[in-house]
Amino acid sequence: MAQLWGGRFTKETDQLVYDFNASIRFDRRLYAEDIRGSIAHVMMLARQNILTEAEKEDIIEGLEGILSDVENGKLSISEKYEDIHSFVEATLIERIGEPGKKLHTGRSRNDQVALDMKMYVRSEVRKLDDLLRDLLQVLLSTMEENLETYMPGFTHLQKAQPVTLAHHLGAYFEMFKRDHERLRDLEKRMNTCPLGSGALAGTTYPLDRQYTASLLGFDGPTLNSMDGVSDRDYIVELLSDLSLIMMHLSRFSEEVIIWNSNEYQFVEIDDAYSTGSSIMPQKKNPDIAELVRGKTGRVYGALNALLVSMKGIPLAYNKDMQEDKEWAFDAIDTARHCLTLFTGMLETMQYHKDRMEESARHGFTNATDVADYLVNHGVAFRDAHGIVGRLVLLCIEKNIALDDLPLEEYRKISDVFEEDIYEAISLKTCVNRRVTTGAPGKEAMEQVLEIYRTYLEEN
Ligand code: ARG
Repeated sequence: MAQLWGGRFTKETDQLVYDFNASIRFDRRLYAEDIRGSIAHVMMLARQNILTEAEKEDIIEGLEGILSDVENGKLSISEKYEDIHSFVEATLIERIGEPGKKLHTGRSRNDQVALDMKMYVRSEVRKLDDLLRDLLQVLLSTMEENLETYMPGFTHLQKAQPVTLAHHLGAYFEMFKRDHERLRDLEKRMNTCPLGSGALAGTTYPLDRQYTASLLGFDGPTLNSMDGVSDRDYIVELLSDLSLIMMHLSRFSEEVIIWNSNEYQFVEIDDAYSTGSSIMPQKKNPDIAELVRGKTGRVYGALNALLVSMKGIPLAYNKDMQEDKEWAFDAIDTARHCLTLFTGMLETMQYHKDRMEESARHGFTNATDVADYLVNHGVAFRDAHGIVGRLVLLCIEKNIALDDLPLEEYRKISDVFEEDIYEAISLKTCVNRRVTTGAPGKEAMEQVLEIYRTYLEEN
């Protein structure tokens, strides 16, 4: 047991209590943030004449030594300490002696941990931001190549109307773009520095909180010390943003699994992203997509767990808040891994364009367009709907597509039909006549792609 307190205690902490209370097992990953935060704190203390220049230099040198030694493996983070803050401070005192004991002047572990966690979350948000950009980039390139790759669009998982692969992927571009914007928005809102809040009521030292905040890249200090030490909103926001990212990845995974199935064969997942079966030699399974879909539950769980942990906590800091870390770390790691793997899988996946197009040709995805043809020739839509219904029935009997039904059969049901019906209901026509903003027509899609390209250049 190695703890920073103990003066007012007459007994040793029970070992089980100590272990239950300790957080070093998981907060050890905050070592770099903890040390950087301490360095900024010490620079500010010296600037305010609370520490001497010499003390500042000794402490900073000591802290930098600890950071590089941990990083290059010379110093291991011993779990005999209660938490990462205790480890860093105790190691500093062990290494530099007296000046090390002044590091914690004007600070509490409450504002210290609030700072560490904010810095960690902020840097993870930036990594996630990059990963989302990578995914958006892969989607955009694939879209650019597939403006005329026809496939069925589905509702109720039943073939509905023809779209293109570019259009289908564009729906995911929209989702992940919103996710990207949400992370940026979160970073803006969370970027205030809690250091200097003290335990809850600030401190009596003349700290320059603005200076510390700017050293650490924050927009400014938090404005209420009680909120400063007990705000975990930004973690809830992050987990909620991650939940949406996972929801989108999960829906996409589900589609990849369906598309990769033996029945569909719209895509083939690369060997490098597939797995085999221990018994069935023929198998090539989409495990990565399934795992991404499955891991979505963990991230939702983390969001729910943190919301429930936080809901009854009175001001200001309470130990319940230590529970934020394991959930946040697990959810961040999960989302980061899932984004990385999913993007890799997508980038290497083969699209069987002929199969997609063939599937769009069968299944009457152009039935609406036959009705539109009639409407354009003066038939009321409700009548047209009935006529096309009869045509579809006829085609089902003959086991052919609407494109293959002879003109005389068309004309037996309505003499409005002429030779140009075939051109009017070809996949190409069906798609390219849909040119309102957001529709799959090539012209409309090209305008949207231009907006996406600009977005990725500017963000
Ligand atoms: N391990 C603690 C946490 O993660 C650090 C803060 C401890 N503060 C305290 N007053 N016990 O929240």
